[in-house]
Amino acid sequence: MTKKNIRRIGVLTSGGDAPGMNAALRAVVRASVYNSIECFAIYKGFQGLINNEVKPINARGVSNIINRGGTILKSARCVEFKTKKGRNKAFNTLKSNKIDALVIIGGDGSFTGGMIFQSEFNIPVIGIPGTIDNDIFGTNYAIGYDTALNTVVHAIDKIRDTAISHNRLFFVEVMGRDAGHIALNTGIGAGAEEILIPEENMGIQRLLQSLKNSEKSGKSSSIVVVAEGDKTGKNVFELASYIEKNMPHYEVKVSVLGHIQRGGRPSCFDRVLASRMGVFAIESLISGKSNMMVGVDNEKLILSPLKTAIKVKSEINKDLIRVNDILST
Ligand code: F6P
Repeated sequence: MTKKNIRRIGVLTSGGDAPGMNAALRAVVRASVYNSIECFAIYKGFQGLINNEVKPINARGVSNIINRGGTILKSARCVEFKTKKGRNKAFNTLKSNKIDALVIIGGDGSFTGGMIFQSEFNIPVIGIPGTIDNDIFGTNYAIGYDTALNTVVHAIDKIRDTAISHNRLFFVEVMGRDAGHIALNTGIGAGAEEILIPEENMGIQRLLQSLKNSEKSGKSSSIVVVAEGDKTGKNVFELASYIEKNMPHYEVKVSVLGHIQRGGRPSCFDRVLASRMGVFAIESLISGKSNMMVGVDNEKLILSPLKTAIKVKSEINKDLIRVNDILST
C-alpha cells in the first residue's frame, strides 16, 4: 500500500458522546505529532466543520483529558450535513485549512456522513467507534461501552438496596434505542430477574408469569432491566402499571437512568481501547487506508469498511439470555 503523503489531519467527535472520546482524541493528536503531521480540532462535530470551527491542536492541547468523560471537542447531531450544500461548505472548510484527511470519532450515524463525504470529495476518512450502545459492526467494543456498563451496574446495585428494604419491584430503563447490549450485560451483572431488549420480544405475559414465579420462589423484591428500545410495545411506565395491576400486593417503581449512562470518568479498559484505536487510526491513514473503521477483534486491532459498520447490525450474544434465564430462578 502506498504511503499516503498526509500532512494535516482534522479530527471531530460526532453523535452521542461516550466516555473515552477524549482519550481517543488525545491518541489521535499525539500519534499525529509523533508522525510529524499537523492536527486540527474540529468543534461540535459536522456542524463545526460546516461553520469552520477549526483550530490547530498540539500534544499539549490534549493534556489531562485522558481521564475526563464527554468530549472537549463537543459533539452535535447535524441535519445540515445531510444536505449536499452543507457537505460542500464542510469540504471548503477542509480546503481552506489545507486538511488532507479526517478522523471521525462517533457512532454509525456519524460514519454514514463520513462515508458520503469521502465518496463526494475523495478525502481519506477513518472512523473510530465511540458509542455507549456498542451497536457497531466491525468491533467487539466501541469506546464508552465498558464505562457505561459499570455506571449502570453500580446504579442498579443502589436501586437493589432500596428494593430489598421495601420489598419493591423496580423497572430500570437503560439506554439502547436499537441494541440491548447494555440491558443484557448489566441485567446479568446486577442480577436482574428479567431483561427486556429490542432484539427479542419476550412478551408481557411471559414477564408477568416470570415475576410471579420469582415471588413464588420466595423473592420479596425484583429488578427488571428494560432497554429503551425494547419491543413489548409498552414503555417502562406502562409495563410497571400493568404489573402493578396484576400483582397488586407488589409496590412497583420505575427508575429511568437516562444520560448519566453517557457521563463519568472513562474506565481503564476504555482509556486503553481509545488510545490503541487513536494510534492505529493515524497509522492506517499514513499507510494509505481510507473509508475504514478501526475495530478490535479478540484484542487485535482491525480495519473494516465503513459501509459494513453502518449496514450490518451488531449481534447480541443470545447465550446471555439463556444464562439469565437460569440464574434468575
Ligand atoms: O447512541 C447513544 C445514545 O445514548 C442512545 O443510547 C440514546 O438512545 C441516544 O444516544 C440519546 O440521544 P440524545 O443524547 O441525543 O438524547
